[in-house]
Amino acid sequence: MGDKIRVGILGLGRISTLHLQAYKPENKLNAEIVAICDKNKKRLKEVADEYNVENTYTNIDEFLKNSKIDAVEILTPHHLHTEHTIKALKAGKHVSLQKIPALTLSDMDKMIETAKETGLKFRIFENFRFYEPYMKAKELIDQNIIGKPVKIDYQMLSAEKSLSSWPVSLKTWQWRITEKENYRLPTIFDDGYHKHSIISHFFDEPVKSVIAWQGKTKVMKVLDWDLPANIIYTFKDKSRFATWSVSMHKFFPMHSKYYGCDEYLTIFGDYGAIYIPGCTGSLYETCDNSAPGKAGIHWIDKEGKWHSDLDVNTDWANSFVNCSREFIEAIREDRQPEVNPVEARYILQISLAIIRSLRNDFREIKVKDIKDKP
Ligand SMILES: NC(=O)c1ccc[n+]([C@@H]2O[C@H](COP(=O)([O-])OP(=O)(O)OC[C@H]3O[C@@H](n4cnc5c(N)ncnc54)[C@H](O)[C@@H]3O)[C@@H](O)[C@H]2O)c1
Repeated sequence: MGDKIRVGILGLGRISTLHLQAYKPENKLNAEIVAICDKNKKRLKEVADEYNVENTYTNIDEFLKNSKIDAVEILTPHHLHTEHTIKALKAGKHVSLQKIPALTLSDMDKMIETAKETGLKFRIFENFRFYEPYMKAKELIDQNIIGKPVKIDYQMLSAEKSLSSWPVSLKTWQWRITEKENYRLPTIFDDGYHKHSIISHFFDEPVKSVIAWQGKTKVMKVLDWDLPANIIYTFKDKSRFATWSVSMHKFFPMHSKYYGCDEYLTIFGDYGAIYIPGCTGSLYETCDNSAPGKAGIHWIDKEGKWHSDLDVNTDWANSFVNCSREFIEAIREDRQPEVNPVEARYILQISLAIIRSLRNDFREIKVKDIKDKP
């Protein structure tokens, strides 16, 4: 291994923009992108030109033969994750795999097994864990500032059109509305992974069961979207619970540098609360300090005193920089990077339990009853 970790990026679709940017010199990751691979030649050339990458491939097997690559970031659609991860590990590369890691638990197990056999680093890229207001919230919870969380409300709004947002091509959405590639659940299965991950991160006990409801909205005139939705998460301790509720709007007067959506997270503890307005979008950026609150993090402690930290970085793209840094540093320090695959498997199990609930008249489903598929 040289001075810098040499990274290869596999899959140069919509989300690759933020992965590529994370490796820009100003982020000081002590790593460099040495090779890229995508079957789309036009996109391959575009990225090669912009990031000055010499080694370009349209075929994964050729890409993995490049001995200059120490580690691979896999950013292809989820139904390819197991095949791509196993190939990369067997080729001797450390792997950072975008969520959702796999569509079934047995596929997830195959990747975990291969990582064990090869002794290489394998982690799931879950950038919401590295969003600074959420990192600060975890610190406050660990310091017992609000007591044990008793209720988490994770609110989200999604808009077909907003005042500004990323262009996302129909191709990027198309595979997400198929059963084989994403269980026809573009928000609930795909984006939901982050939400289950954050909720389970803040509670100190595993999610016991889920109850999931979904409606339906037609977007872009052709796509059946899986929103609105409301998910309830329960715990062994019946006095505690969490919800994730999402609405879908034809238009919302919001600016976003990324997807046309934003989040509002509230964590109520035994004797205090934490409020985090904003995450993916910029809805709260221009809001003043009064309710619903300026982007950042606000909390009330046991003595009833309010606090705010508006210096945390609230740009969603920064969570990609932090999450990429975690991978690079873990390789250097020879430790397991976050999110470790065993925990990622449990988050996947929650995702699959939610699908089973949706498909069984919104019945309560125990997470441990999911053995492989929804
Ligand atoms: N962390 C996040 O917030 C976040 C956000 C968006 C997407 N994602 C995840 O990232 C992954 C990719 O999502 P996306 O929105 O960028 O998808 P996308 O459809 O825009 O891009 C996928 C890319 O993979 C390429 N590809 C497909 N098969 C290939 C193959 N066999 N070899 C080489 N290249 C191949 C496609 O040509 C395309 O460029 C998904 O698993 C998704 O869940 C995560």
